[in-house]
Amino acid sequence: MTDLFTPLELGPYTIPNRIVLAPMTRCRAGAGNAPHALNAEYYAQRAGGGLLITEATQVTPRGVGYPATPGIYSPQQQAGWKLVTDAVHRAGGRIFAQLWHVGRISHPAFQPGGETPVSSSAVACEGQIRLPDGTTAPYPTPRALTIDEIRGVIADFRHGAEVALRAGFDGVELHGANGYLPDQFLRDGVNQRTDAYGGPVENRARFMLEIVRELTEVWGPSRVGVRLSPSGAFNGMHDSAPRATFGYAVTELGKLGLAFLHIMEAQESDLKHGPARSPAYEALPASHFRGLFKGVLITNGAFSYEKATAYIREGHADAIAFGELYLANPDLPERFRRLAAGRRDVPFNPPDYPTFYGGGARGYTDYPFLSDR
Ligand SMILES: Cc1cc2nc3c(=O)[nH]c(=O)nc-3n(C[C@H](O)[C@H](O)[C@H](O)COP(=O)(O)O)c2cc1C
Repeated sequence: MTDLFTPLELGPYTIPNRIVLAPMTRCRAGAGNAPHALNAEYYAQRAGGGLLITEATQVTPRGVGYPATPGIYSPQQQAGWKLVTDAVHRAGGRIFAQLWHVGRISHPAFQPGGETPVSSSAVACEGQIRLPDGTTAPYPTPRALTIDEIRGVIADFRHGAEVALRAGFDGVELHGANGYLPDQFLRDGVNQRTDAYGGPVENRARFMLEIVRELTEVWGPSRVGVRLSPSGAFNGMHDSAPRATFGYAVTELGKLGLAFLHIMEAQESDLKHGPARSPAYEALPASHFRGLFKGVLITNGAFSYEKATAYIREGHADAIAFGELYLANPDLPERFRRLAAGRRDVPFNPPDYPTFYGGGARGYTDYPFLSDR
């Protein structure tokens, strides 16, 4: 019977288990927003998973909205990521870079020259953003990208993919989830354009699909994945017809022969805020997309060992990404292996929330391994 430890064909790779490190921003990049030795150690510690996906990494300095997030556009960043990929490969793992542009989830304080952040439309995110100096401010109203600028951002993603290739990654994942730029084009809660990139879903999905096509030109389709959050309300997101919007996007992605589709399932906060934002809110699990996407389907969102095993057995998904549990347990696959062998006395480190974002080794590379006990 298929379980978390059944190998999986993922593009050109045979991954030894179906445990994926979910992408997690940790705000610990070094000078020039470049990864450094500490980041390499963090990822190498987690190399036992079948696939690691990096924290979101911006493809341009205009794609930044948080302090100390790594970029993937400069030679220094390329060299920093090479430390990471080499360390993961030495430890026997495979790692994809998550390519990112925050769009409106930013502030002039993060932008080169103090410029206004960009988005599909001039619609501000509700709520407050934390600035580099630790204070908060309302999200500014972004500026709508012109068609020429859209071409420029797509080129930025292509360049990020090229840097990722030179940095020794095994593939790339487009961050199409969580209310960042591609999602700001896809969902009509933000996108109010009337040109070729707005209006009907065929137009709203165009930006994401054009980016994905560029990524597949650089990497070949079988080493490109896409992450979507059809049920996500994070970053003020909503849509007037989520089933139709994501149904179209997934169907089109399904024609490209990608490495995988990575669907985030509804979280408690989505179920709480989603219906308040839009009466059309609907929680769409990964299994909803099974029929639309024939390739490898990864899912994620508060999965335990037991729930993940049941999901794989029932065929709802091919692999499961773990976030907080993997953050706090670098040897998560080994702990799961013991549970799979029928042991009941397997302890798990609890996550330390105050050290999630920013800082050094504490709460990052110092979570104990089972072998430390
Ligand atoms: C500290 C932290 C940082 C995160 N950063 C990202 C990110 O950079 N990109 C992304 O797609 N999701 C990000 N997420 C979401 C996770 O990938 C994942 O979807 C979420 O934690 C739910 O999975 P879990 O319940 O297994 O933790 C982040 C989550 C956490 C806890």
